[in-house]
Amino acid sequence: MPICDLDKRRPHGKKVMGMDVVVWWDKNEKEWKVMDDACPHRYAPLSEGRIDQWGRLQCVYHGWCFNGSGDCKFIPQAPRDGPPVHTSKRACATVYPSCVQNDILWFWPNADPLYKDIYLTKRPPYIPELDDSSFSKTFITRDIAYGYELLIENLMDPAHVQYSHYGIMNNCLCTVKADREGGRPLDITITKLDVNTITANQGPGRNTFLPPCMYYSYFAFGGPQGITSAESSGSVQEKPSAEKQKKALLVFICIPVSPGYSRIMFASPRNFATWADRIVPRWIFHLGQNLILDSDLYLLHVEERKLKEIGSYNWHKACYVPTKADAIVAAFRRWLNKYAGGQVDWRGKYSGELPPTPPREQLLDRYWTHTVNCTSCNLAYKGLNALEVILQIASIGVVGIVAAAKQGMLSVVARYSLVTVALLCFVASRWLSHFIYKNFHFHDYDHAFR
Ligand code: FES
Ligand SMILES: [Fe+2]
Repeated sequence: MPICDLDKRRPHGKKVMGMDVVVWWDKNEKEWKVMDDACPHRYAPLSEGRIDQWGRLQCVYHGWCFNGSGDCKFIPQAPRDGPPVHTSKRACATVYPSCVQNDILWFWPNADPLYKDIYLTKRPPYIPELDDSSFSKTFITRDIAYGYELLIENLMDPAHVQYSHYGIMNNCLCTVKADREGGRPLDITITKLDVNTITANQGPGRNTFLPPCMYYSYFAFGGPQGITSAESSGSVQEKPSAEKQKKALLVFICIPVSPGYSRIMFASPRNFATWADRIVPRWIFHLGQNLILDSDLYLLHVEERKLKEIGSYNWHKACYVPTKADAIVAAFRRWLNKYAGGQVDWRGKYSGELPPTPPREQLLDRYWTHTVNCTSCNLAYKGLNALEVILQIASIGVVGIVAAAKQGMLSVVARYSLVTVALLCFVASRWLSHFIYKNFHFHDYDHAFR
């Protein structure tokens, strides 16, 4: 999770790689903590709990309290003069090693003491531009109803942009178009494919996949190009480049959640036009970014089910990919089959079946998959809902004034003006209601009339 979307005042429940974890701010150690989201008492979710006045995580089922190391510090039901049952190992919550890098909270999904200090020797992939103050960056996170494999290959596939995102991503710079949308041959070359990396060149851009979850595209404009290079160790280092060169990255972090579900974290740091991110609230960017995610969500949800029937190892046989536009996707599928067993290893937790397709409102839901978890959208959502209520009250209030005013108290002009104001308030409140629903709850994306 990007820490900008974590509220220090409350615990947060997240599902990652099939594991339910609780994330909370330990004000005593001044660190984010990641624990198993199950109380050792009777397995109630700790993420539904609260932080008590001493900064401990309290399970709200029976009040047991835990510190940042997972030690149980208080069992309300244990007699004060009895044996110190809270000190038993069985009373401890399970803590995972975690660290913050690039303003993102990472955790190691194994609580074995062997890995306690894992982050001293093995760090998550690092993008220097995300920590560089001369670059802008705004994160978006969204839970998506298709799996990790489909998410990664979608991000690696520039050829779909003109079609799936037609009209909402204006990126066709070509003067001669073969069709309205502007699809064209793409010259993509794979420059490296091994267990730790896939790299590919495409025009002025360089694309890098750092398994298992990071994919980024790097663009440099004007002058000699400084290209970020992926190291097999998982770090990203920059070669010297000309000063004041315009640079932009698209950074994607793709998290397997459970079969048929994934989570995307996206940021696009750039060292030009950075003023936009400073003055435009993050939720405004999220409106467009969520629309982009919606526009291919259903396609990929259905595609995933068909590919599942075919089987991961038959992908190259079943899919006809004759052009270089699919080069990175094909390379990823090779990597997946050769080095990752063809799919996410759920450690036997799931049967392998994909969940049934939910109704469209649920599939394309934005509220639970984004709005409630995004600090910026959440605030905007509450603010706009309040504004809607104010407009309704104003509308009714003004009508009430006009109705209550005695004959002759208001001139005809004043009466008409007030009625117009009431009408405008009413129309604005209706429009706002529609805007809120479409942007924060559900947008039924239809490609046919775009
Ligand atoms: S289940 Fe958590 S205190 Fe009982
Ligand atoms: Fe948002």
